[in-house]
Amino acid sequence: MDALAGLRLALVFTIVAHLSLLARSSSLAPQELQIINAERRIDLTSHIIKVFLTLKVENTGKSPASEVFLAFPPTQADRLAVVKAQAAVGKRKKKTYLPLDVTPTELPDAPNGTKYFSISLLNPLKTGETVTLEVLYILTHSLEPFPAEISQSESQLVYYRDGAIILSPYHIKQQTTFIKTPSTKVESFTRVEPMNRAGTELKYGPYDDHQPYSFSPIIVHFEINNPFAVVEELVREVEISHWGSLQITEHYKLAHAGARHKGVFSRVEYQSRPSFSGVSSFKHLLARLPPRIHSVYYRDGIGNISSSRLRTDSRKSELEIEPRYPLFGGWKATFVIGYGLPLQDFLFESPDGRRYLNFTFGCPLAETVVDKLTIKVVLPEGSKDPSAVVPFPVDQSLETSYSYLDVVGRTVVVLEKKNVVPEHNSPFQVYYKFNPIFMLAEPLMLVSAFFLCFMSYVAYLHIDLSIRK
Ligand SMILES: *[C@@H]1O[C@H](CO)[C@@H](O)[C@H](O)[C@H]1NC(C)=O
Ligand SMILES: *[C@@H]1O[C@H](CO)[C@@H](O)[C@H](O)[C@H]1NC(C)=O
Ligand SMILES: *[C@@H]1O[C@H](CO)[C@@H](O)[C@H](O)[C@H]1NC(C)=O
Repeated sequence: MDALAGLRLALVFTIVAHLSLLARSSSLAPQELQIINAERRIDLTSHIIKVFLTLKVENTGKSPASEVFLAFPPTQADRLAVVKAQAAVGKRKKKTYLPLDVTPTELPDAPNGTKYFSISLLNPLKTGETVTLEVLYILTHSLEPFPAEISQSESQLVYYRDGAIILSPYHIKQQTTFIKTPSTKVESFTRVEPMNRAGTELKYGPYDDHQPYSFSPIIVHFEINNPFAVVEELVREVEISHWGSLQITEHYKLAHAGARHKGVFSRVEYQSRPSFSGVSSFKHLLARLPPRIHSVYYRDGIGNISSSRLRTDSRKSELEIEPRYPLFGGWKATFVIGYGLPLQDFLFESPDGRRYLNFTFGCPLAETVVDKLTIKVVLPEGSKDPSAVVPFPVDQSLETSYSYLDVVGRTVVVLEKKNVVPEHNSPFQVYYKFNPIFMLAEPLMLVSAFFLCFMSYVAYLHIDLSIRK
């Protein structure tokens, strides 16, 4: 059977990769560039830390430059979930932004284990020219609770460590860093003059003329009671049935990654004084799901949990889920969400005749970090030549699964990614070939099964009759 042959074929995936995991090693030392002005805005209002960096780069060398390097201390590099860059083109009101490729890279003689990313410019930067780059990077697991343990009546305080000066392989003529905290409750911060504090913002700088790799460590100690929702492991199974629906099953291992809870938990106190008690804990989570959702369920090891609310409109569905107990620092909850979606919203035919699923990557829970995400797309029986297109690097593999009535099993496309943040909730596609004759396989199986039953019944009657004679 050629479906079997197809399954056995080693399948080669295509990836549209903006980032390539294979680190390129560049033999060239950084071009002779300098940063005329750098502005960095660090947003500490969530445990998913967003950093916006604007760099005005000038080529002071003799030859054109085609890439600009970003440098990160090794501890930060390990916690980077996203690094994106775009170039500002045009002046003032006509300004537009064009996305640029960013790839991890290595440079010889990196001081103190510095890690690099290379931004590829659209056009080489000629001597004397300047370009303005907008960089966004996202850090996870970078707020350290201190004290590490708090009781139910205490607020959560954390440390954030960084540098007052931007780590860079280039000379920076002028730079400023703004740090935004969730509230004005800042216990302490490192002073590096000139600096200024106003409301929820700390301003470091402006600092003039810093040599490459200048470093000036800072610590900010502040209050944050927003939920530190971390899904340690999430497995999302997306099953395509050509009989009209898409069945989604999501297995969550959720944890509160903030300061650990100490002492006993008092539900009475928790419920009677919600604004003082357990302020850093969370009671419910919001899952943003596609519109036209049906057959929703939410259960854990004990059974169905009825305390969930579903709101739907024409653009989205929102499922508010409430675990059996509020989650405090260090506490965990394991649960499963399942739902069905109309197939025609997600399954399409490409011009070359292949079918494809267009679905959203990432995690539906708002403001959540996923340490390890696995998406399993279960294709209909008889599908061939699957290939996945994901806008960032992911680990891809194939499995075969069997459900009742399956003859040859179903191909499962497995996509895996670590350190996933809401920025990764973008569409991905899984293309495959499908022969509609396979849609008849299941009904034929049923018919033959009935026929066999009928035949054995007839045979049984026949024997029975012959005995009575
Ligand atoms: C590199 O390490 C040395 C010694 O530990 C230290 O003095 C220097 O400030 C560090 N530089 C950076 C960029 O971290
Ligand atoms: C749980 O809920 C689902 C959907 O509402 C239902 O089909 C299933 O029978 C329930 N299971 C139990 C054990 O109550
Ligand atoms: C996938 O769906 C998104 C909207 O959800 C749409 O913007 C995008 O163009 C679709 N991609 C393909 C290849 O159909």
